[in-house]
Amino acid sequence: MRISDLDTPALICDLDILERNIATYQQLISDAGLALRPHIKTHKVPAIAHMQLAAGASGICCQKVTEAEVFVAAGIKDVLISYNIIGQPKLERLSRLARQADVTVAVDSAYAARGISAQAAADSVEVGVVIELAMGNRSGVATPQDAVELGRLVTALPGVRLRGLMGYPTGPDPECLDFFEATITAYRAEGLCVEMVSGGGTATAWQAAAQKPIGFTEHRVGTYIYHDCMQVQRSPHITLDDCALRVICTVVSRPTPDIATIDGGSKTFTNEGLGGEAKAHHIIEYPEARTIKQNEEHGVIDASACPRKPEIGERITVIPYHACVTANLHDTVVGVRGDTVEVIWPILARGRVH
Ligand SMILES: Cc1ncc(COP(=O)(O)O)c(C=O)c1O
Repeated sequence: MRISDLDTPALICDLDILERNIATYQQLISDAGLALRPHIKTHKVPAIAHMQLAAGASGICCQKVTEAEVFVAAGIKDVLISYNIIGQPKLERLSRLARQADVTVAVDSAYAARGISAQAAADSVEVGVVIELAMGNRSGVATPQDAVELGRLVTALPGVRLRGLMGYPTGPDPECLDFFEATITAYRAEGLCVEMVSGGGTATAWQAAAQKPIGFTEHRVGTYIYHDCMQVQRSPHITLDDCALRVICTVVSRPTPDIATIDGGSKTFTNEGLGGEAKAHHIIEYPEARTIKQNEEHGVIDASACPRKPEIGERITVIPYHACVTANLHDTVVGVRGDTVEVIWPILARGRVH
């Protein structure tokens, strides 16, 4: 089977680039003296996680309990859930998971810690805990002192075992690393566990070597596996040639001489990143084209700057602005080598929001 045989829109992944990305970042993070823990939010495919582990990854990271379930069922034994687990249904599932795998969860409040502890103790299981340090304003404790207080609480609670600290994204800005350094120093002074200090981010992976002397033990990377236009914009180390994930779309209309409409809209890519000056997706055959609007099933492309215009019926290859949210919208990702379809992977953990 060839790429040209696939119905569109088709999510495909260039296996040569995927394998190169796995090897490049494994080398980069190993050379920095850190363990690499892939965040599976980007691909959500157990088979790809096994490729990452075979290359040397230490375990995986998930955002949701239901995502973790898919990967544990696929035989993965070391999982960090980098998200506050709040609410009884999730706590019960977490406890069940802790029976089958080595599970560590990030918390940033006494509320979250007490909930995990109560359920784990009732179920006679142990859940690892890392305290999340705020690297922006979405979650995490704000000061080293807050981290120490929460660390002390977790150490005293039943059913949970303090393992250390995490944050996202970590580096390269000095404020973030100073926060970690001050907290690690305070933890050591208090005799609190820092066996696991987990940093993260694909763009910041290139500066990960600076994190080891501070006390970091691992770096979580997600988007590196596929890369996307957002990462190309963020890091001088990442180019369009590193982008493994593409969507094959068909031109379905040419409503004006300069506009081409494709069969991939917000249901294929999401609208994330669109608008403003950002040149959202990249179309390999038409690098000058810009996506100007997406409805659910229509992607509207301004082709005015293209010397040759896309024709109705033509298939184009789109590198998405954001790979992770795009992959989450598709049932399968087709692994290709050159023009040949080599494998079709179900995206088993897509849509797992709980
Ligand atoms: C907690 C956490 N860790 C790691 C990552 C991976 O980041 P990146 O995709 O930049 O590698 C993410 C991405 O959103 C994240 O939320």
